[in-house]
Amino acid sequence: MKNIAAVLEYHDRTKHRPTRYAASLRYMDWATQPNPYRRYENTPLIPLFFSDTTPPYHLLFENHLLPKAPLCIESISQLLRYSLGLAAIKSHGGSQWALRCNASSGNLQPSECYIIAPAFKGLSNHPSLSHYAPREHALELLHNYNIDMEEGTFLVALSSIIWREAWKYGERCWRYCQLDAGHAIQAIRVSAAMLGWECEILSMDTTDIGALCGLDQYARFDSMEWESPDILIRIGHCTSFSLPTTPLLPYNANRLSPAHHEWPILKIIDTATQGTYPLTVPLTPSRHLPTPSKSSGEIVLKRRSAQMMDGSGITLEQFRQILNASLFCTEASDVHFMMFIHRVEGLERGLYAYVRNQTDLVSLIESMDITFKWKDYGEGLYLLKEGDYRGAAQMISCNQEIAKDGAFSFGMLCHFSKSLETYGAIGYKNLYHQCGSIGQMLYLEATSLGLSATGIGCFLDDEFHALLGLRDQSYQSLYHFTIGRAIIDTRITTLEPYTH
Ligand SMILES: Cc1cc2nc3c(=O)[nH]c(=O)nc-3n(C[C@H](O)[C@H](O)[C@H](O)COP(=O)(O)O)c2cc1C
Repeated sequence: MKNIAAVLEYHDRTKHRPTRYAASLRYMDWATQPNPYRRYENTPLIPLFFSDTTPPYHLLFENHLLPKAPLCIESISQLLRYSLGLAAIKSHGGSQWALRCNASSGNLQPSECYIIAPAFKGLSNHPSLSHYAPREHALELLHNYNIDMEEGTFLVALSSIIWREAWKYGERCWRYCQLDAGHAIQAIRVSAAMLGWECEILSMDTTDIGALCGLDQYARFDSMEWESPDILIRIGHCTSFSLPTTPLLPYNANRLSPAHHEWPILKIIDTATQGTYPLTVPLTPSRHLPTPSKSSGEIVLKRRSAQMMDGSGITLEQFRQILNASLFCTEASDVHFMMFIHRVEGLERGLYAYVRNQTDLVSLIESMDITFKWKDYGEGLYLLKEGDYRGAAQMISCNQEIAKDGAFSFGMLCHFSKSLETYGAIGYKNLYHQCGSIGQMLYLEATSLGLSATGIGCFLDDEFHALLGLRDQSYQSLYHFTIGRAIIDTRITTLEPYTH
């Protein structure tokens, strides 16, 4: 109960309201800007490979058609390259910054990745723990275990450095870190699918994930730059194995900022939401219209957030295809889209619901405005109310024009009370992971259709809930999103990463 109370307090306190945004510095303290790259000092660095050969994007949805890649350094290289690697270097006005395959709020990149693998050539002669260094596209070898580990399976652990986002976003940042973790999870799942691999999220205690990666060895980290364990993913065929024990590691984490601003609520919410990671009831999607497409690697590298959209429309087929792609985040079954449809051919403007999991339909109808029509358009799509919602979309998205200039924008409405009741406080963290995973998938689907998307973490929570007529906390919107056609800023030049 104590942890649930901490969640409810954090969630309410970090809502953006028209008269008061969640607490943050309100200015950019450039002197303390965190280094986006974690490194462990003096670790052996194992360079990874580059490969350009990836299957067509549409085949990822039918991955029984794809051959399973062998577990070797080349395939792990490809997995990391197309999930968490650098996708582009941007340059403008004398400054340069890297973008990655996984979207991240403010491009602050809190997610870190660890690999626990059996012995294999090119990495280590022993089972090992290593950390991914995206700038170098290399693995830092942290430990060789003196045990046997089943071949053909390896583990990917994800964690978040909360400070990276706290630097800019203050108290609301913990939400963004979790959404970013969701993006990273789906980025790994998609990259694994390119190799014919399936991912399984393990129902592990997050404390054990932290111990596995050495994140509980606090003396190795600056006290404000702790890493919070998020999730453990198993890739490969072996289902029974025991986790190795990681001893005290001799490598200290680099310091990311010379000084810090403390937001005590972040440690409280992070501690409250540790526990056994929940396994949700999966969706069973089917893909219609698998269209021939570009290579999946190209789509992953081309995925970009639109900064501005041109206000043009999309076809109904494109719209349906985007919604359908969201179902391939099969573990994200507690999320529905409440959509402002501005310009989709064949649909009148208005407020729509996309119910991704029909088991929630009755409770959604009962929770929302009783005057909504719930006119059935098939495949989970319902018209709630006709009208021009462009102004409302912009207002709710902290006045960001991309929400009105996209073809449609929406809030991801989550079955909040059910998750907390079923899974406890960690259900809150899990809901953000569900939303972030969907976000990453929709970015890729939009890119494959020649469209663009942008995740929207800045929105007025209760203004949106009021517009939907929600009267209590059974449903809460945790992430917003817009999809349309980007206006490209030609002043910014794009360079290839890893040219060295
Ligand atoms: C959780 C999350 C929240 C975001 N919120 C916003 C937002 O409110 N407004 C915006 O313009 N972009 C937003 N973005 C887009 C990021 O700024 C963008 O992903 C980042 O700059 C990296 O650029 P890229 O997506 O092109 O790689 C968000 C992205 C994520 C993942």
